Amino acid sequence: MDNNRKGVFISFEGGEGGGKSVQIVRLREKLEKIGKKIVMTREPGGTMISEQIREVVLGKKNMGMAYTTEVLLFQAARAQVYRELIIPALEVGKWVLADRTSDSSIVYQGMVREFGVSEIKHLNDLSTKNTYPDLTILLDVPVEVGLARRNGTEKMDRLDLESRNFHEKVRQGYLTLAKENPKRWVVVDASRTIETIAEDVWSIVRKRVIID
Ligand code: TYD
Repeated sequence: MDNNRKGVFISFEGGEGGGKSVQIVRLREKLEKIGKKIVMTREPGGTMISEQIREVVLGKKNMGMAYTTEVLLFQAARAQVYRELIIPALEVGKWVLADRTSDSSIVYQGMVREFGVSEIKHLNDLSTKNTYPDLTILLDVPVEVGLARRNGTEKMDRLDLESRNFHEKVRQGYLTLAKENPKRWVVVDASRTIETIAEDVWSIVRKRVIID
């Protein structure tokens, strides 16, 4: 962990349709109201260079991407956002709210794509300079709820059904990580309303991260 760190680092993680981007904005508003200086970011992305890498790694025209390329592009985007944005913000006492970070690589590439968890952890140490969140909120939803939210319909086609297994592995991967490190992770039931989840997140942040 970075010794010069004065700020607080909170990440949001989870699979499809958990509402990370909505909840992160809600938390930002509440923290700003009590005078905290906030930096909000996302991965892959968060800086001009990282957003360009995002277009490459998530772009539909790059369907033929090798797994190792994918792994390294997520890490390249991460290295940039930690050096340019996250570490400097924490050093001056800002609160960093991240929509996904290193744990996404552990789950998606390390576990689900079976690239290897220890390999990803090693790469994460390099790209983050051993900088990890103080608190990670897992917005957990059953796969069918998450996919239905995304599609805006309960009906799922063949491809959705085929990818169910992938999404289920993502969900279980996150739950495993959360169980392994309860000091950092809190699991939030994200199948409820936006308002209820936002209240839960706020009380967790108040309890876990001392607000002076
Ligand atoms: P995004 O559109 O931000 O999806 P979401 O709303 O689910 O966060 O796309 C990010 C995608 O990239 C998502 O499918 C997860 C994946 N991802 C990885 O596979 N590894 C990573 O390290 C990161 C940061 C994201």
